Amino acid sequence: MNTNFTGSPTNATSRAEAEAAARRASAKPGRTIRVTIKRCDGPGKPSRWESFKVTVERGSNVISVLQQIAANPITIEGTPTTPVVWDSGCLEEVCGSCTMVINGRVRQSCSCLMDDYAPGEGDEITLEPMSKFPVIRDLWVDRSRLFHNLKRVKAWVPIDGTYYAGAGPREKPAQQDTRYVLSTCMSCGCCLEACPQFNVEPDEKNWDQSFIGAHAISQARLFNMHETGKQLADQRLDALMGPGGVSDCGNAQNCVKVCPKKIPLTESIAAMGRAVTIHSVAKFFNLK
Ligand code: SF4
Ligand code: SF4
Ligand code: FES
Repeated sequence: MNTNFTGSPTNATSRAEAEAAARRASAKPGRTIRVTIKRCDGPGKPSRWESFKVTVERGSNVISVLQQIAANPITIEGTPTTPVVWDSGCLEEVCGSCTMVINGRVRQSCSCLMDDYAPGEGDEITLEPMSKFPVIRDLWVDRSRLFHNLKRVKAWVPIDGTYYAGAGPREKPAQQDTRYVLSTCMSCGCCLEACPQFNVEPDEKNWDQSFIGAHAISQARLFNMHETGKQLADQRLDALMGPGGVSDCGNAQNCVKVCPKKIPLTESIAAMGRAVTIHSVAKFFNLK
């Protein structure tokens, strides 16, 4: 269920869910649909569109449709082609690897039900790779920059795992509650795909100066709130204070609308913006 920024369900969301439920209920078993896919044979190669006719049963998802196409890669015009390539792992919206743009909206393909998107005979669904990451092949993109940006904010708890260090510091339940939702980030890239401030940067040398993204800002908040993770708090704030940091966010709020885990990204951005301001003032007066 989508929520507004205060965490309450919105009327628009309830209406959308009711409409989706009606579509699912009306979905016809054994229907034939048209699947149109943006294809690309490799990095730097030109893209092209290909369409396929696929028979779908109720409850099938985009991955099962792609599997059918891979097993029989013949276009709607009857031309043999190469099997479509995509990335996936968990098949339960946990790993984030199957993210693609479906009917113009970025989301996970494993949790995308055909009954929602193409419930009727002859319906069409369009699949494209995310546009903010380099395409490796077809629907498979290289999300290395997303993970690089997590390294920029040291998104981990610094512990020496070579010996037993005993129980960690205690946390208050309210703090755990706040951190729990932040910890559900699966590095899927939806927030980056939707963000007008995050654009393709092919030159790795520029990554450290380019906008870091809502996911990394939120993970910095998560680890700065962690009783052991906060040992690196100043270094995370330094990273967010620099070029491409939190001040590059244009507050378009697209990220929070597309996050599949309903992470309050704008709340994280505001919290880290405040923390960066306090940090920079403290540094200016040599208090750090
Ligand atoms: S709020 Fe900031 S991070 Fe989120 S989409 Fe807008 S510019 Fe991007
Ligand atoms: S913050 Fe949300 S949209 Fe962004 S990478 Fe994490 S789970 Fe995906
Ligand atoms: S396959 Fe893991 S999120 Fe879809």
